[in-house]
Amino acid sequence: ARKFFVGGNWKMNGNKKEINDIVEFLKAGPLDPNVEVVVGCPSIYLTYTKSILPSNVFISAQNTYKVPKGAFTGEISPAMLVDNEIPWVILGHSERRNVFGENDELIAEKVAHALEAGVKVIACIGEKLEEREANKTEEVVFRQTKAIADKIKSWDNVVLAYEPVWAIGTGKTASPQQAQEVHDKLRAWFAKNVSPAVSESLRIIYGGSVTADNAKELAKEKDIDGFLVGGASLKPDFVKIVNAKQ
Ligand code: 13P
Repeated sequence: ARKFFVGGNWKMNGNKKEINDIVEFLKAGPLDPNVEVVVGCPSIYLTYTKSILPSNVFISAQNTYKVPKGAFTGEISPAMLVDNEIPWVILGHSERRNVFGENDELIAEKVAHALEAGVKVIACIGEKLEEREANKTEEVVFRQTKAIADKIKSWDNVVLAYEPVWAIGTGKTASPQQAQEVHDKLRAWFAKNVSPAVSESLRIIYGGSVTADNAKELAKEKDIDGFLVGGASLKPDFVKIVNAKQ
């Protein structure tokens, strides 16, 4: 069975005081022990946050570059995460793709390099509104997934986050049926193009305006293995989202 996975993506939010408050509600929980909980924190706060997080919550970076070191001003590498015992990184987030212009090829190289360096990856994919309206959802998410599949040797240390861009930060959550449909198609894609074993074991999580109110219904869908939560991960409601799976 796939262990339910709930990630919080803080994006470019938080300061020491706010992080202290988040850590307090994570400690108070209680967090369902059957759920893997990870928080994605701005790089400058990674070591601070890690030093105060409870042991049942793991930490993630929000980006890394595709090589271990060198003349790449402003970047950090997976090797630097390993050196600081940061086990996870979020890669391919729609904000990296659409605000910072990262393409499928670069994201795939970054995913492959992070895995080779020993960092686990939350890899994000998802279509824009105009792509959905043009009936291109499958084409887009398959293309984004294939780019990664072509460059990595194993999916063991990857969680795939389906985050429709039109649902991110908009309050327009995908309905459980809309999300399940894409997750199901992705699982079929994996069975055909990677292997039945990966199709069965890979966690495919949903992101985009997940709240304490809609998480329970989404969590009932058989191919939704958890969530990647933006705005609501900064608030005590995050605990309810972690515990949404019945
Ligand atoms: P929101 O939950 O704020 O819509 O953000 C989703 C997201 O982008 C998580 O990575």
